[in-house]
Amino acid sequence: MTLRITVIGCGYLGATHAASMAELGFEVLGLDVDEAKVESLTEARVPFFEPGLEPMLRKHVESGRLQFTTSYAEAAAFGDIHFLCVSTPQRDGELAADLSHLEAAVDSLSPLLDRSCLVVGKSTVPVGTATRLAARIREVAPAAEEARLAWNPEFLREGYAVDDTLHPDRLVFGLPREHDGVAEAALREVYAEPIASGTPVVLADLATAELAKAAANSFLATKISFINAMAELCEATGGDVAVLADAIGHDPRIGRKFLNAGLGFGGGCLPKDIRGFMARAGELGAGDALTFLREVDAINERRRKRVVDMAADLVDRPWPSAKVAVLGAAFKPDSDDIRDSPALNVAGRLHLFGAAVTVHDPQAMENARRSWPTLRYADSVVEACRGAHVVLVLTEWQQFTEVDPGMLAEVVAVPSVVDGRNCLDPEVWRAAGWAYRALGRP
Ligand code: UDX
Repeated sequence: MTLRITVIGCGYLGATHAASMAELGFEVLGLDVDEAKVESLTEARVPFFEPGLEPMLRKHVESGRLQFTTSYAEAAAFGDIHFLCVSTPQRDGELAADLSHLEAAVDSLSPLLDRSCLVVGKSTVPVGTATRLAARIREVAPAAEEARLAWNPEFLREGYAVDDTLHPDRLVFGLPREHDGVAEAALREVYAEPIASGTPVVLADLATAELAKAAANSFLATKISFINAMAELCEATGGDVAVLADAIGHDPRIGRKFLNAGLGFGGGCLPKDIRGFMARAGELGAGDALTFLREVDAINERRRKRVVDMAADLVDRPWPSAKVAVLGAAFKPDSDDIRDSPALNVAGRLHLFGAAVTVHDPQAMENARRSWPTLRYADSVVEACRGAHVVLVLTEWQQFTEVDPGMLAEVVAVPSVVDGRNCLDPEVWRAAGWAYRALGRP
């Protein structure tokens, strides 16, 4: 009989996972406590922007293979495997992760687990959480030892979420040190298709699986901050960080990916994950091991101030009499996610200095408007730039990199641009009459 899968928490991660599991051939029930989200997903509408997700969702909602609910009783009765995909954001005013959604999900589900099943954690958690939750589930579930727990961290990137879920570059199965093989067999069945097409499986204990996610995101954040630190040195010496990235990136031990210097990282994962990791290491008495992440975070924060300073150098007037165009609100292109968005952070700072800031983003306008209602918004690049004394390109959407600088020069008051993502061709922009500045470039 085909496995029946529930996905608990239907945000970026969960909605993508649910639709992908249906695509792999399973019957899927997605659960979320947010009724509006469940209603939207039931009507095959994705409540956020993720390329390729909506058609896949629609296909399986229409075939009946994918359904959504707010009822834990329904989910417990339905599922052989329950994936936990709820968010674990940063706690207010602390570095540590807030596990309240995860704890609530486990507390709601466990007492209803009355037959053999597998709970699989995918959320990013402080190391040690899985072992604690496994004990709680065993204690509370009527199925006791037959209610097993595994940890299977998720490495998907927003913007590529569907492809990353269907064709992951690795699968990590975290299992208790002593296990009877049932959980591993179930996970191998779930992921039979990607495994057959060559995706490697890494078997790990629960702690190592939890660490794998924190370590991966810490490494990526470190790589970005490393090249941004090099950008600071380039600025001090007249070097060019984009050329430097190519020069070191050809070394296969280093690799060119994630060496794009600029405004730095944001989003719902990297910033909070490195902070949560530091907080957890401190609790475990291993804080020294991760003090370098404080520097990684600090380098990243400095990027935002640097872009503001660069804009100030270009503008020939006090901020209260300046018009600023900000191109980009999402934390990265192909996403409408504005969580810890570097672009909006810069826009907000300039607004607080008194500048008239107008923002345009191809997808994130609605989210941005909700969180930053005091900024101005324009429906197109041209409208955002009309009359501007400086243009800031802060998210590297293709629409922005392809814009004709000659045409745009006609629209602005002063043709000066800060390329916050090193995504424009300086020669082309300068040739079109623009004063061009970028981080780490002459
Ligand atoms: C990240 C991880 O990549 C993913 O594996 C994990 O599951 C979740 O966190 P995501 O947050 O979707 O994914 O975005 P990612 O593509 O990693 O980019 C993160 C941030 O780094 C963005 O703000 C991006 O603009 C920035 N970045 C990325 C750089 O500044 N330079 C780079 O070279 C690459």
